[in-house]
Amino acid sequence: MLRRINASDVIRFGAFAATNVALFYSLRWFLRYLDPARRGRATAERQAKTILDKLGIKNVRALTEYELAVASDLIDTSLIATTWTEIGGLDDVIEALKDDVILPLSHHRLFEGSTLLAPPRGVLLYGPPGCGKTMLAKALAKEIGCHFLNLQLSSLGDKWYGESQKLVSAVFSLANIIQPVVIFVDEIDAFLRYRQHSDHETTAMMKAIFMSLWDGLESDPAARIVILGATNRPEDVDPAILRRMPLRFQVGLPDSQQRLAILKVILAKEKCDDDVDLKRLSLVTDGYSGSDLREICRVAALACVRESIRDGTEATTRDQVRGIRMDDLEGACRRHRKTGDKTPFQDFGTVS
Ligand SMILES: Nc1ncnc2c1ncn2[C@@H]1O[C@H](COP(=O)(O)OP(=O)(O)O)[C@@H](O)[C@H]1O
Ligand SMILES: [Mg+2]
Repeated sequence: MLRRINASDVIRFGAFAATNVALFYSLRWFLRYLDPARRGRATAERQAKTILDKLGIKNVRALTEYELAVASDLIDTSLIATTWTEIGGLDDVIEALKDDVILPLSHHRLFEGSTLLAPPRGVLLYGPPGCGKTMLAKALAKEIGCHFLNLQLSSLGDKWYGESQKLVSAVFSLANIIQPVVIFVDEIDAFLRYRQHSDHETTAMMKAIFMSLWDGLESDPAARIVILGATNRPEDVDPAILRRMPLRFQVGLPDSQQRLAILKVILAKEKCDDDVDLKRLSLVTDGYSGSDLREICRVAALACVRESIRDGTEATTRDQVRGIRMDDLEGACRRHRKTGDKTPFQDFGTVS
């Protein structure tokens, strides 16, 4: 038999509902309070809002907390100092990046409607460490005139179950909102390495989501989103990922001509004595990376300053310190351990 609902029933039901709502919100607050990543996320959100504001990206309020967390990896390219001119010996790669990546993103109207000319979905820079991969990506970010997301693995790592997957999805949904955009994943082997049985369930899931969302870009030829990866260990990158990066550039150890170009760039603003023979230096530094060459030049320049301090010479400004001599560079070279095992300058005198 049905009973008529009276006022006290309504009050009782109201109180019950209110208690449950209060319990729900208290529990949610408590769980958030327990979340150890809470503070980091709040800071990332603040950073993201500042960057988004600076980059002129509107509708910031419409972004989810996950998109905001990812947005903190957006780069303010006006703060990047690296330009193409500071990269020595990689002109071919630079020209190819301009044609294959920058052009389709910046002149998209000319590429519209063609599936053949759609921007590449994945580009890989690979080669030994210290040869300029990260430099290329930085210069690209500086010159490209579109947004650049320097995706950090730490931004996607969240100990809470399910959160990492949401963050990975947010990478692509944010990219969709702010496109044209390049998503740069440095050391891509660390994130998207060979899938193994020992992979943590969350990691495996993250990779799977990343790949399926990446494939999703294929179905939208108008999307101006490019994933740029860099790695020292291409053999460790999941083959499924390599397949998604058909455009690959090898940034190998420089040959003597490239070393000459790198040395010229590195020493362009340094005071050098007339006896400095960069050609000779480039010939005897076989196996040296760009970063090794930079270190040699740094040590040689430091030797000049150290000498002026030790000698008690009256140098008070950089201008008064003597210029770098060939023997400074030779000395630095002898001491520097390069990736290879050959010691240059062992037979320095015989090089013509
Ligand atoms: N081709 C190059 N031209 C000028 N400097 C270079 C070059 N390659 C490397 N360097 C120097 O070495 C440093 C490290 O290079 P980086 O781009 O980080 O190497 P990678 O990412 O390939 O490991 C750069 O900051 C730069 O000073
Ligand atoms: Mg690097």
